[in-house]
Amino acid sequence: MPEADSSSKQKEYFPGIPQKNELFFLKGSNNLDWGMKNRLARIFNPASGKTVMLAFDHGYFQGPTTGLERVDISIPPLALQADALMLTRGILRSVIPPSTHKAIVMRASGGPSILKELSNEHIAVAMDDAVRMNVSAVAVQVFVGGEFETQSIRNLTRLVDAGMRCGIPVLGVTAVGKDLVRDARYMRLATRICAELGAAFVKTYYVDEDFESVTASCPVPVVIAGGKKLPELDALTMARNAIDQGALGVDMGRNIFQSDAPVAMLEAVRKIVHEGLSPKEAFEMYQSLKGGKRR
Ligand code: R5P
Repeated sequence: MPEADSSSKQKEYFPGIPQKNELFFLKGSNNLDWGMKNRLARIFNPASGKTVMLAFDHGYFQGPTTGLERVDISIPPLALQADALMLTRGILRSVIPPSTHKAIVMRASGGPSILKELSNEHIAVAMDDAVRMNVSAVAVQVFVGGEFETQSIRNLTRLVDAGMRCGIPVLGVTAVGKDLVRDARYMRLATRICAELGAAFVKTYYVDEDFESVTASCPVPVVIAGGKKLPELDALTMARNAIDQGALGVDMGRNIFQSDAPVAMLEAVRKIVHEGLSPKEAFEMYQSLKGGKRR
């Protein structure tokens, strides 16, 4: 038997103060389970509601990508500044220290290399291994309009079912094939399909015209991929425009790790996403950090 409560202090039940029942901060996520929300709150900073994910999973189909020849050398200085790391399980286990506190978004689809038809992907990570690696989310490529569209959507729905059983959110990644027009109409279709089929958040490409309609019609958070390497000011402008038009973060790779000064670039992107800097202000910060050899 526990000892009787012998404290002389009066018990304080604060009957006049109702317990708070707060809504979860992230768009479309309020009805998810605690574990899933907790994982999403590791990816998206609850203070700003946004995320800066560092994507370096490119090797899963294109091998040693420029800037990622030695992930063990190029990524550790960058990883410190990202909210989440998007990577493959091979790189996680071989290169990333298990002592990291960063959220892990695990690439969980793959198959064909850059030499083949890319849309022919399958699930590449079992959910029990994702749990073992303590990931915050798994990511699956969805090829809407592609040759293997249905198969890629089946990959998504199978991961969503498995993720629901253990509280792991799924990131739907909209992939644009060579023959598809990369416009808002296509992005609305692809992002909405991912969300309707259970993705907790969706990654897509920024488009110059009407991107607001993409984020507005997607009921869960949208983050943008960086795409091919751009001049730094252009990449910062794209990030600013995407956030201003409703994106809740970036999942950026080449525009960071292929920059002349990757650490400075990641810091500038963080200022855009989390602190509302203008592209000009962020670019000046980038140049100053680069000049000061914060590379
Ligand atoms: C591409 O297939 C990978 O999933 C990347 O994570 C994604 O494209 C983001 O990287 P980047 O900013 O280089 O486009």
